Amino acid sequence: MYFHILEVEFNLFLVYKCALKLSGRTSVSKTISLWGQSLCRQFSLMLVNQPKLSYYLHPLLRWSKPGVHPDYHSARIVDFRWETDQMLSVWLEPVSSWAGFTPGQHLLVTMMHQGRYISRSFSISSSAALFTQQKQIRISCRIQPQGEFTQALAAGIATLPHLSISDAMGDFVLVPQADTAPEESIVMVAAGSGITPLWSILSSIRCWTLPVVLFYCVKNAAQAAFLAELKLLSAKQPLFDLQLIETQQTGRLNLVQQLQDRTNFSVHKAHYYLCGPAVMSRQYSEDLTQQGVAAAAIHTELFGLPVAASEGPVKQALMIQQGKVISVEAAAGVPLLQAAEQQGLSPRFGCRIGVCYQCVCQKKSGQVLNLRTGQISGDGPEQIQLCISAAYSDLQIEL
Ligand code: FES
Repeated sequence: MYFHILEVEFNLFLVYKCALKLSGRTSVSKTISLWGQSLCRQFSLMLVNQPKLSYYLHPLLRWSKPGVHPDYHSARIVDFRWETDQMLSVWLEPVSSWAGFTPGQHLLVTMMHQGRYISRSFSISSSAALFTQQKQIRISCRIQPQGEFTQALAAGIATLPHLSISDAMGDFVLVPQADTAPEESIVMVAAGSGITPLWSILSSIRCWTLPVVLFYCVKNAAQAAFLAELKLLSAKQPLFDLQLIETQQTGRLNLVQQLQDRTNFSVHKAHYYLCGPAVMSRQYSEDLTQQGVAAAAIHTELFGLPVAASEGPVKQALMIQQGKVISVEAAAGVPLLQAAEQQGLSPRFGCRIGVCYQCVCQKKSGQVLNLRTGQISGDGPEQIQLCISAAYSDLQIEL
């Protein structure tokens, strides 16, 4: 590939030399010469440095569709609605190259904000039927007071023409009907915006064969998105049981206790779908495992980083940016991206949860703790994701 590129560049150079000879005019030739050299250089640089063919079209794409990322699919914003005072639903019509989704999956949404791309991962909250019939999907986003992406989305939603979306991904999907026994049931636990993939799954079930109970944990009913639709479903579908847990009144859900209190229910004959803050999902997973529930029967979708901040001495991270070395205090359990920002640095980032890989940079030495998996890295040079890595020893990182 590299030699082919050099060959292309050389041919271009020959064409430009011939043009000079044919023209035979010195003053013009000087201008053409400069122009030709610059063109050849730019062309070569562009070919050699761009990792993807689609990047060549980026300038054109940016001009025709400002803000569309060349790696992703463009999706037209069709409509939007506030589900609660904190949750915004956005209906999108992806381009025809977008391959569709399985209910429960999520995707990465990217937009241009203040001259750079920012990304966030969102679960699709609409039914499969909406996509098959109208070629639309809906994402529902909790607007975080400190969230750069969600704040920018809420502020710009009335005027934004489109967003960029990745392919749908993730395996938080309903087990195939063929893999479930008739005596089994499904238990879902949603906390806050964790309802989004579960509502997509529930609203896509066409043939109900198993009982489903949904424990929907919210501070109070006013914070419960899709509550009217869920109540409607529970009224018309006898196999669906909606349990709204208003934690402001009743406190945190004691899942095991609730399940033990149910008649004709065995914790071992159910599939569990847990979606919400990572700490909650981890706690309920542990509770169920202690009751002897098989790991394969517990399905989780985590919002946030599962490894809790740990205690420990502050480490020294030497961050090298454009040849300048900046010493950053990296507290245990704090993502290095956050630590760098607190020091006034501005490394590249997108989703901040380890999905988009925009924050990948080179660790030259030292060990990091992966806040998603809990794994500790080796000591040598390797690429790390700054947003989900915390210092485990003193470090050197090239930003
Ligand atoms: S910012 Fe997306 S992976 Fe780190």
